[in-house]
Parts: sequence; structure tokens; C-alpha cells
Amino acid sequence: MRKQIVAGNWKMNKTFIEAEDLLNDLKQLLENSKHGNTLVVVCPPNIYLELSTDISDEFQVFDVGAQNVCNIEFGAHTGEVSAPMLFSMDVKYCIIGHSERRSNFYEDNQLISGKVGVALKNKITPIFCCGEQISERKAENHFNIIKTQVDEGLFNLDKDDFVKVVMAYEPVWAIGTGVTATPEQAQEMHKYIRSLIEKKYGTDIAGQTTILYGGSCNSKNAKELFANPDVDGGLIGGASLNAEEFVKIVQSF
Ligand code: PGA
Repeated sequence: MRKQIVAGNWKMNKTFIEAEDLLNDLKQLLENSKHGNTLVVVCPPNIYLELSTDISDEFQVFDVGAQNVCNIEFGAHTGEVSAPMLFSMDVKYCIIGHSERRSNFYEDNQLISGKVGVALKNKITPIFCCGEQISERKAENHFNIIKTQVDEGLFNLDKDDFVKVVMAYEPVWAIGTGVTATPEQAQEMHKYIRSLIEKKYGTDIAGQTTILYGGSCNSKNAKELFANPDVDGGLIGGASLNAEEFVKIVQSF
């Protein structure tokens, strides 16, 4: 059985007090909620990682992920945060290849591949994001775009490393727009991604790989999305900023 995961990507939101409140609310709700084997990951801004791992280490109701990592391990890189630093703070996951980093910070597949490598080397699980723009889908080029992102960003890994990766399909047109992929569109792409993994790494590994859906996923549509055979959870942006809403999504399997 592959892992089911619901991860919250807070992006650049919340002041310190708000972050503290949200973490405490999440802790309380998750302690009192039934959510089977679903793993919960909280990805706050870096500045709140220690606050988050303190709570996660003590109460173990969620794991903590970063939203980004430097592709270099140490040195003169002002403003960057490295994988060894994240590991030393008990951070278990890191979002890599998010579309906002690809477009706003010009991250290409080669850089993303470097980040995946450095995360794995430091025992951080990459949550590798891929997704097409609306124009690419309209031009019926979406499968090719995903294939290139995955080929160039991820498929240089050997089997032993690849099995540690979590993937996330996030159509760019669905992120923060309120327009969600239909369950059929999500399933179609997740199935395709799994077929790519199967070709590259074999049936067993394809069957084990967790593939999350992201893009305007909320407590109203999560059930329908997660019911698909190849959708193993969600990467949640806006809806992860409210504890009740996020925990409802966690309970949507
Ligand atoms: P959204 O963001 O849920 O706000 O659409 C998802 C993401 O960017 O990870």
C-alpha cells in the first residue's frame, strides 16, 4: 500500500502569532480527529520551521516540510537555506519544483533536479511538483510538458533514491484560481505519471509512488478527487491556512 498524504503549503502567509495559532489549532484538531493512515505534512515559511518542528516532535500529529531548499549544501549564498540545515531542524519533507518557483524565480528542470538530489542526500523527502499552464493544455501539449518536467527533474535518480520521492501534479491553471481539475482530469494525468514511472522504474515502484493532486483543492472537492485510484492525497495551498478546513481535507479519504 502506498502512503496517503495531505500536505499544507502555507506559501508566504501568516505572521508569527497567526502561525502559532494555526499550528496549535491543527495539533488540537488532529489529535481529536480520525484520519486513518493519512499522513499530514505542514509546510510553513522557513522562519516558522522551528516552531513547527517543536510541536511536531512533541505531539507527532503532523510532519514538517519546507517550501524550498538551496541546490548547494553550504557556503556563500546569501538568503538561502540548505538541506543539512533543514535536516538539523527535524524537517522531513521539502516542496521542490513548485510552479511559483518555476515561474517567479526562474527555476528550471536542471536546478530542480539539483535540489531533489541535495534533499535526498540529506534525508529530506522531496515533494516534487509538476504541472502544465492552461495554454499548454489548450494546445493539447500537457502530457509532453509533464513528461519533460519529470524526465529532466526527477528521472536521473536511481531506483533506491526514486522510491523516497513523493510527487505532486499541480496544473498551474488550478493553483489559487478556484478552478479545480475535474476528478477525471486529475485521474487521467496521475495515471499517465504512474505509467511514466512504470516505464522507467518498473511496476512495483510505480505502484508504491505517492502522487498528490494540488490546485484549488478544498474540503468540498477533496473527497471526489481523492476517490480516484491514482490520486493519493493533496498538496493544499489556500485551504491549508484554516485549521478546520485543512483537517476536513485530511479526513476526505
Ligand atoms: P492552492 O495551491 O490550493 O491555493 O490552489 C496549491 C499549491 O500551490 O500547492
